[in-house]
Amino acid sequence: MALREPHREGRDAKGDRANRELDFAPSDFGPFRVESLPTGIVILWFDDPERKVNLLDSRSLDMLQRALGAIKVRSTDPRALILASGKDGQFIAGADVTEFDTVETPAEAESKVKYAQELFQEFADLPYPTVAAIDGPCLGGGTELALAFRHRVASSSRNTSIGLPEVKLGILPGFGGSQRLPRLIGFTQAVSMIVSGRSVDSHRARKMGLVDDVLPRERFVPRVIEWTEGLLTRPRPSKRGGPPAHHRAFESLAPLRSYVLSQARKTVLKQTGGHYPAPLEILRVLGATYGTRLPEGLKVERKAVAKLLFTPESVNLRHIFIMSEDAKRSPAASAALPVDSVAVLGAGTMGGEIAYLFTRAGIRVRLRDIKPEPILGSLARARSLFDREVSKRRLTRAEMDLAMARIEPVLELNGLGRTDLVLEAVVEDLTVKQGLLRDVESQVPDTCVLATNTSSLSVRAMGRALRRPGRLAGMHFFNPAARMPLVEVIRTEATDPAARDTVLALARRIKKTPILVRDSPGFLVNRVLMPYLSEAVGLVERGVEITAIDAELRRFGMPMGPLELLDEIGLDVARKVAHVLREAFGARVGSTGLLDRLVAAGSLGKKSGLGFYRYEQGARRGVNPTLVTPSSQKSGSSGGKNAPLVPPAEIRDRLLDAMVNEGAMALDDRVVERAEDVDLAMVMGTGFPPFRGGLLRYADDAGIGAIVERLARRQQEGAPSGPCGKLQRMALGNERFYR
Ligand code: NAI
Repeated sequence: MALREPHREGRDAKGDRANRELDFAPSDFGPFRVESLPTGIVILWFDDPERKVNLLDSRSLDMLQRALGAIKVRSTDPRALILASGKDGQFIAGADVTEFDTVETPAEAESKVKYAQELFQEFADLPYPTVAAIDGPCLGGGTELALAFRHRVASSSRNTSIGLPEVKLGILPGFGGSQRLPRLIGFTQAVSMIVSGRSVDSHRARKMGLVDDVLPRERFVPRVIEWTEGLLTRPRPSKRGGPPAHHRAFESLAPLRSYVLSQARKTVLKQTGGHYPAPLEILRVLGATYGTRLPEGLKVERKAVAKLLFTPESVNLRHIFIMSEDAKRSPAASAALPVDSVAVLGAGTMGGEIAYLFTRAGIRVRLRDIKPEPILGSLARARSLFDREVSKRRLTRAEMDLAMARIEPVLELNGLGRTDLVLEAVVEDLTVKQGLLRDVESQVPDTCVLATNTSSLSVRAMGRALRRPGRLAGMHFFNPAARMPLVEVIRTEATDPAARDTVLALARRIKKTPILVRDSPGFLVNRVLMPYLSEAVGLVERGVEITAIDAELRRFGMPMGPLELLDEIGLDVARKVAHVLREAFGARVGSTGLLDRLVAAGSLGKKSGLGFYRYEQGARRGVNPTLVTPSSQKSGSSGGKNAPLVPPAEIRDRLLDAMVNEGAMALDDRVVERAEDVDLAMVMGTGFPPFRGGLLRYADDAGIGAIVERLARRQQEGAPSGPCGKLQRMALGNERFYR
């Protein structure tokens, strides 16, 4: 069957309009298209019309199989086969993660993985040169497919990145990646790349030997064709990068590999506290399959994937991944207004980094403070953040200079006549903020959106200062703003859709994950976190050892213990939030007595050198000696006379139950609409362990009934409050937050 392929503007490889012969109608291969060049080279295009990015799922793998079949049954073999994406700057983003959940048993998983492995092996077995033309993200299954090609050529675009991030979903590369990568780039480099899940840019990929060459992004596919022609006329390509021969010889020694594996294992255990099975399993697979025949290795690989896919850690990590992908799209920000120019008021801790985030996204920033020092500090901070990006080759120095030039530092509140959005990040004082917003409103155009970064004040109350309160929304960043991925977008009853959507869209544009939150005390994250922190402070007041509390919560998987976290946040800041919440919700938020006393004594946490711990030049030096009482519980002691005041499991339950209780109440109060919102916010805003799937997912696993029972018992023992109505109803009805 030979059909004419309709010319596609800008797609055809050579740019001429010569007739191209196809062997099947394009629709036969779904997202794939087979193009035969007159020169005998065949291009396999991947362009899924239904998606923004190309993904590998059951359907596309079937289509890939058909396309390959069509190429194989031709009367003459192609001279070479090139795999290219029809999407501009988008190669293959990986597998469709949502499909993983439809697999019901490890046996089914294994057979699906085997199908892909065998398909990729067919590409690897083709008797002529095969070249993957990589322009844009090439991740997971995409990288594995490219690895099954004999050659890989990457574009020099900054968007091009190649990686195997499966470990971040609690699995390992299952379509041959764990086997082909070490064979290509050597054992040590492959271990590091697969265990970390980190991607590399094209230059690094060339150096590692992961790609054969890097070509300019302009006319990329035509260049890859020329490159392939060169390969055909000069079959021995110029030397690839990758580890030198002596390095490979060294890696063939078993003791050396054992050493590499044991070092990697130590790093993994240190970074994950042993909570994540996937990186350990990856090390086992890589160690066990080194030097085996490929089919044997593939068998071990697919068995490992099938096993890991059903671990709770992988299920939970995928749940978080799917939620965060969802937050990039929904809620839709259809009423968003364009933003080219913003004003950031207040160049302190938050304002400086926020200005950096805006200019980095190409937005002009007027950065205003009433004093020059914070502005200078903010500019220096932005410069140092850009410097890091330049050193990682994410940005050129010229681009950095342009971005810095987009920030206009000012001391006066003027020149706002063409501003699209004003974000205030001045001191946390309602009267100051109201006065400022009133002045701002008199200067900005009608369409200008106003936003506040307040962490504890009522957005509604702030809006009372405005003629048009509907233009105000909260845009609550977390500290440090450059690094923390979450932004709470706060709407009041008055906030109009344009203001809400403009802030949502802006948060996404600067690559943050926005969560839409109703204006209410503490919004979502601080409200849910505070009872947990207060419980910890309460235990210290009762004489429980500080390090015992922190150690227990770290063991649970928190990135730091609650008292370490309080020291980082600043006890003055935390106290303020605690008071706001106490005023709103009463005693259940916990006593602020100890925080009050510490703040009054000038112990503000890390920044002042003393909080729950003592610090010298920012480094921790033991606990605050004034908080050690003779009755302080010794960590790790158990049983007999030295029995801990509060057993470790109870420490953990007390803190987490308090957080679950508040999360359920926030949901009941419709601060957010869905359990998913609470979970994503707590993972992204506080580092709640992703492998637990989020706070409410953890509650489901721990058992709502058990949590309710414990909360009720503590209330009987004198705690100011017990399980909330929602939790009680759920326990009675045997319900869960997730089906
Ligand atoms: P900061 O004290 O570091 O900075 C505030 C800056 O605002 C100071 O440089 C001050 O000179 C300036 N300022 C005061 N009045 C001003 C005015 N009328 N016009 C322009 N600048 C003025 O405070 P930080 O920590 O940056 O906090 C700012 C806001 O962000 C507060 O509302 C705070 O609640 C909120 N926030 C703070 C977080 C944190 O962890 N620091 C986290 C999230 C929100």
